[in-house]
Amino acid sequence: MSAPESVALPFLPGSPHLHWRDGELWVEGVPVTELARTYGTPLFVYSAGAMRSAAAAYQRALAGRDALVCYAMKANATLAVLELFARAGCGFDIVSGGELERALRAGAEPQRIVFSGVGKTRAEMRRALEVGIGCFNVESLAELDVLDEVARALGCRAPVSLRVNPDVDARTHPYISTGLRDNKFGIAHEQALAAYRHAASLPGLEVVGIDCHIGSQITTLEPYLDALDRVLDLVEQIEAAGIALPHLDLGGGLGITYRDETPPTIESLIGATLQRLDARGHGQRRLLLEPGRSLVGNAGICVTEVLYTKTGPHKNFLIVDAGMNDLPRPAMYGAYHAIVPVRPRAGTPTVWDVVGPVCESGDWLGRDRALVAQAGDWLAVASAGAYCMSMASHYNSRGRAAEVLVSGPRSQLIRAREVPSDLWRQERALALD
Ligand code: LLP
Repeated sequence: MSAPESVALPFLPGSPHLHWRDGELWVEGVPVTELARTYGTPLFVYSAGAMRSAAAAYQRALAGRDALVCYAMKANATLAVLELFARAGCGFDIVSGGELERALRAGAEPQRIVFSGVGKTRAEMRRALEVGIGCFNVESLAELDVLDEVARALGCRAPVSLRVNPDVDARTHPYISTGLRDNKFGIAHEQALAAYRHAASLPGLEVVGIDCHIGSQITTLEPYLDALDRVLDLVEQIEAAGIALPHLDLGGGLGITYRDETPPTIESLIGATLQRLDARGHGQRRLLLEPGRSLVGNAGICVTEVLYTKTGPHKNFLIVDAGMNDLPRPAMYGAYHAIVPVRPRAGTPTVWDVVGPVCESGDWLGRDRALVAQAGDWLAVASAGAYCMSMASHYNSRGRAAEVLVSGPRSQLIRAREVPSDLWRQERALALD
């Protein structure tokens, strides 16, 4: 059955894997209504094809080079998603012992894991050394000393890269901009050479590279190329001082379209990067990348049911069954996610704030959205593959949503909806008087 002419099918980031057919939303070969009926809501739905094709775009652009794409798993750390990227030949960028265990569980090759983050504990370092990860991205002099000590105690040498802070403005949200000198991340450009000399002098460390990551949701090429130039200046200085840097890790950060952004494509980002590397005579150096959002962000949606409509003199609200505990980005960053009906209706749209059931005024998913909707309808919150489930919480004692992966005509539950006993599994009854 086709949709009536008058029903406008809204823009939805994530095509062609997310698309309209017969007047309703499909993920690959499966109608979203069928998934919502089968698995309930709120429900995260991911397209395996979209994830695979993003990984393939990086790999194709890097073909013929000595390069490794390390998926920044903080974006979406669900095991089946990690397995998909491991099978696609990706390594992983991790930031905690928990992420290390998840990556290993998903079949990651330890040599293809890089460990980022400003606050690694001794226990995390030890475990990562024992399993033999590829590289520690070290963020401070103090961390270098501790890592040296931990490695010597284990009788091994830790492979290290220093994360340098190139002091460029990624022109993104202040909370996700990391390459400016006032950020907590990385080692200041002017201290980098001395830090490398120190690292090279420590017997428990083996310098294997240099890295930088300037921020997330970057939508222009310039900050990348500025950072690259700054890092290459350092590479030249450090190697002139006799310290070899076998690899260059350029971090992640490529933005996606949430609304009307036009970020560089994966091909153009990698193309421009390789061109600059070649122009400066660094084309042979091993290259690592740590993309997160651009691999998974637009591969996913969150399907939510309208519970109630509430119209008033000043505002109209669509109250839905997903909240800020499921989709924290609007509350945390004021982020925009497109919200579309799964089966658009004909009619005159009303302007609504789409809000969740959590007891906070900050619990909104979208403001001033023109939609034709009524209680019982399903809505899809777009661009929900990255930094949604991985940032979800139990606030208000809400169990986390289920997740489904779609590949062609098939779907698979990859995370069951949490039940109340999952919420208190680690808690103990009161035993004190
Ligand atoms: N590498 C490092 C060292 C990082 O800190 C990050 C992200 C990435 C790679 C991956 O960046 P991506 O390619 O995903 O932009 N929760 C925020 C995003 C925080 C990003 C933190 N670091 C959000 O929801 O927008």
